[in-house]
Amino acid sequence: MLKTRFTELVGVDHPIVQGGMQWVGRAQLVSAVANAGALGFITALTQPTPEDLTKEIARCRDMTDKPFGVNLTILPALKPPPYAEYRQAIIESGIRVVETAGSNPQEHIAAFKAHGIKVIHKCTSVRHAVKAEKLGADAISIDGFECAGHPGEDDVPGLILIPAAADKVKIPMIASGGFGDARGLVAALALGAEGINMGTRFMCTVESPIHQRVKEQIVANDERATDLIFRTLHNTARVARNAVSQEVVAIERKGGATIDDIRHLVAGQRGKVVYEAGDPDFGIWSAGMVQGLIHDIPTCAQLVSRIVAEAEAIIGGRLARMTGRA
Ligand SMILES: Cc1cc2nc3c(=O)[nH]c(=O)nc-3n(C[C@H](O)[C@H](O)[C@H](O)COP(=O)(O)O)c2cc1C
Repeated sequence: MLKTRFTELVGVDHPIVQGGMQWVGRAQLVSAVANAGALGFITALTQPTPEDLTKEIARCRDMTDKPFGVNLTILPALKPPPYAEYRQAIIESGIRVVETAGSNPQEHIAAFKAHGIKVIHKCTSVRHAVKAEKLGADAISIDGFECAGHPGEDDVPGLILIPAAADKVKIPMIASGGFGDARGLVAALALGAEGINMGTRFMCTVESPIHQRVKEQIVANDERATDLIFRTLHNTARVARNAVSQEVVAIERKGGATIDDIRHLVAGQRGKVVYEAGDPDFGIWSAGMVQGLIHDIPTCAQLVSRIVAEAEAIIGGRLARMTGRA
């Protein structure tokens, strides 16, 4: 049992989080994570409407009576989704913990806090972590450059980012990006975090609602199998390297590319088809460098109990022996 300020804050057994994942963070995965004693987040914007989100939350409750949360990701968009309506659906569903991510979370943190909901803000820099703490966030999830999805534009890896943020924020902090096993969890705790957030690792589990062939591709991939796209648009995303991501990178490298030059390649719907039909080369899909540490497709219960048991063994065995205490 690893008890931290984070497990106390959100009332879960283990200091392990499954962060929001577009098309992947559905009730089936989130309830399995909750039943394993960790904290899962349903991804609000995977649901086409706020009403569908309400139904997905109810579906998750049918499969677990343990705590789980909802991720609300605020990204720049020409036609933004109805954020306030999604937020209201979360509040009215009686959710007790929310993961916000993306652009300025101020209005959302205020609204959730007014209803006594705990907010974990996920960000990619020390300055944004400090700001979220000032805005009233209850915890920070900090994503290093290794992470899948949006690592920001500063390119600071977790080994620096996590202790740098730990020096500046007082609220509990979760380390994110590149975590997939017990060694990562112990390292994160040593760096000043109170737990870990894993995306890619949870994506590659039995209960993850994506095609088996994509999970097998993650197992086959190594730590070099990612690309950074949208660099030139200052909206960097780390994605699994494939024929499409390589084409996007090639267009961006030529210089002067606009979103119109790559829109046909990066459409979110194409990524959705990857997960549904199981063709890893059909579109862009998110995955992190931690693919190099993923060698199997366990259930969430197996994964979480393995990480916790091995972390306890590292702390009480190898590390304790180094100090002469075991
Ligand atoms: C398939 C996939 C989709 C993701 N979608 C989102 C999202 O919609 N919102 C968000 O805040 N983070 C998203 N992320 C980021 C994860 O929540 C997490 O921060 C990241 O995966 C951590 O890095 P890791 O993959 O190395 O564990 C996504 C990650 C993956 C793998």
